[in-house]
Amino acid sequence: MGGTIVVRGGRPLYGTAQVPAAKNSVLPLLAASLLCAGPVRLRGVPRLSDVESCLALLRAAGCAAGWDGGDVVVSGRAACCRLPAGETARLRASVLFAAPLLAKLGRAETALPGGCRIGARPVDWHLAALERMGARVEQAAQRLLLTAPAGLHGAEIRLPGPSVGATETVLLAGCAARGQTRLQGAAMEPEIVDLARFLNQCGGCVRGAGTAEIVIEGGRPLHGTAYDPMPDRICASTLACAAAAARGWVTVAGCAPGLYAPVLDILEQAGCRVLRSAQSATVGCAGGLRGAGRLVTGGYPALATDAAPLVAAALLTARGQTVIEDRVFEARFGCAGGFAALGAAVRTMRGGRELWIEGAGARPLHGAQMAAGDLRGGAALVVAALAAEGESRIAGCGYIDRGYPALEQMLARLGARICREMPPEAPD
Ligand code: UD1
Repeated sequence: MGGTIVVRGGRPLYGTAQVPAAKNSVLPLLAASLLCAGPVRLRGVPRLSDVESCLALLRAAGCAAGWDGGDVVVSGRAACCRLPAGETARLRASVLFAAPLLAKLGRAETALPGGCRIGARPVDWHLAALERMGARVEQAAQRLLLTAPAGLHGAEIRLPGPSVGATETVLLAGCAARGQTRLQGAAMEPEIVDLARFLNQCGGCVRGAGTAEIVIEGGRPLHGTAYDPMPDRICASTLACAAAAARGWVTVAGCAPGLYAPVLDILEQAGCRVLRSAQSATVGCAGGLRGAGRLVTGGYPALATDAAPLVAAALLTARGQTVIEDRVFEARFGCAGGFAALGAAVRTMRGGRELWIEGAGARPLHGAQMAAGDLRGGAALVVAALAAEGESRIAGCGYIDRGYPALEQMLARLGARICREMPPEAPD
């Protein structure tokens, strides 16, 4: 979709919003479907541009992949090992397609993955793990060629850091490899647990997902299945932060509060009322908020790096200081310029690793023209604009569409004055 989101802020939000399935779960599940002999149905998948990109990658690999109402269905076997550079460059998760193609076809030709510009984001840990499992990796400019004519074998692997994507690559490769793979230093994110649950439901054997050590018994044939991906804890965080920024009383339904506990805890300490139940959280905010002091992101269960700009947006109008240090990515706070345009007193420190917010307190934010520079930063600008008096315009919403199925509609249903403007179509 793209275009510009227009917000007239200053109106509190009320109502219930349903959290969609998690983008960061659906994308690895689509890559995993390449390993399955029968059809895979993922139920209730949000219409995101990143999902469309993965469907295009699956079709390029020779599978049938498309929508059946709100579900995605993938069938057929991979027949082509070459992934189109344009599509792979569009998203980070394209790197997850390399291991299944390599395992199934003995060869994968792909390009270095793209994704949001929030840091260097190399894929060296993915490639090193695949090499330990018997792959040969050749890299020329942006192209990657991986070969494993004799197939992949299990291995002992220790990741240098808890990478979500590299952990997922090892899970995918490990299920298809001969013998046992033992992964140490694994990331512990819930989306990894979801991928392991899917692989096990298909006949795989993955133990320990959600801990730092994962053991995979490889070589078991995987069959198709129908699967409900987990809810999107970052989307839930976005809605909770929107309620705090705009004020009001919002129930975030369909996502266990424990999945984004740090965000809810921070909002509560800042002065929001938070009511937690098994599968929903209600965030209420009537008066002023307090700054949250020093916050640090990290791997699960710490504050998610993806939630950092959203928490910042919620606290721009708090009284008192908030400092957020992102320990995962170097350039997480590209949205700081947009926050400043709204009148917030913000600055980045330590080469962009930290965002300092001197809360505006009673001083209101005002509408401004901004541009989304990445997915979560773009959503954070929309959240911040809800708290600003007057009209704000956030251009570059193609970034936001990567991770939210029509964010403006989700917020409009809660009473926000928000719409999207598309550029006029060029004449034929
Ligand atoms: C995933 C999520 C993203 C989230 C991130 C961290 C998806 C599609 N994306 O991204 O939304 O922000 O986890 O929770 O699930 N690293 C290396 N070499 C590697 C791999 C990673 O140095 O080969 C570094 C990265 O630069 C980064 C850190 O490890 O500093 C963590 O990155 P990683 O967990 O891999 O993020 P992604 O899987 O890309």
